[in-house]
Amino acid sequence: MARLRNVQRWWSKPEAQALVERVAVGHGDVAMSVEPRSLFGRTAPLEVELGSGKGEFLIEQALATPHRDFLGVELDAAVARLFALRAARAGCVNLRVLRADGRTVVNLLLPDRSVTVYHVYFPDPWPKLRHLKHRLFSSQFSSGLMRTLAPGGTVCVATDVGGYAGEMFAQLNAAGLRRIDDCTPGGRSTGFARKYLGAGKPVFEACFALSSEVSMEQPARPAAHP
Ligand SMILES: C[S@@+](CC[C@H](N)C(=O)[O-])C[C@H]1O[C@@H](n2cnc3c(N)ncnc32)[C@H](O)[C@@H]1O
Repeated sequence: MARLRNVQRWWSKPEAQALVERVAVGHGDVAMSVEPRSLFGRTAPLEVELGSGKGEFLIEQALATPHRDFLGVELDAAVARLFALRAARAGCVNLRVLRADGRTVVNLLLPDRSVTVYHVYFPDPWPKLRHLKHRLFSSQFSSGLMRTLAPGGTVCVATDVGGYAGEMFAQLNAAGLRRIDDCTPGGRSTGFARKYLGAGKPVFEACFALSSEVSMEQPARPAAHP
């Protein structure tokens, strides 16, 4: 908490703006579209993490994989700022941080067939019935993933909540993605993964793939359920 408060104070200073300018998308403005080519100034495979938290996983990936581009999407403004600050300080040139709702980014903002890998690690489970509407995953969201995935693209998901894992995996399956792996790149290494594994909690994880035979022009098939 103290670290987040420091970032909030620091964020208003001109030197903060200069440092994070290259990394933080839109600088607090509402993003109306996300065009990977103009964000990164090149065409490269794009990996998107939804609910990236403080960005431990994506910063590591971006530094280790310079030929790929990475977009972190985080809803919480203070957390997104801390992530952007860390990414800028780490010197990431192929990573951008967008403060936005991941559902809006997937359903509306990203172009068709533009994402090579989605990473979704430990999305908030919203266990109370009346809060279920806040969950990231729904059949509409799965359709958005289908629309934006490039041919052969993958969705990697991990959670510590067995029931939510079952629902997410079933929705991805119903949307037309095929389960290809029971391990994910981040399921054991994100900030929350380390915390949960350290506390002895189980992790449920899987990667799902879109067929590589889908053409770039082919629209996503409608979700099985409204
Ligand atoms: C439990 S944390 C996991 C963070 C990170 N993925 C990890 O594994 O360390 C969930 C994160 O998702 C963010 N979040 C929740 N709902 C979101 C949404 N609709 N869009 C984007 N981020 C969201 C939260 O603010 C929080 O930072």
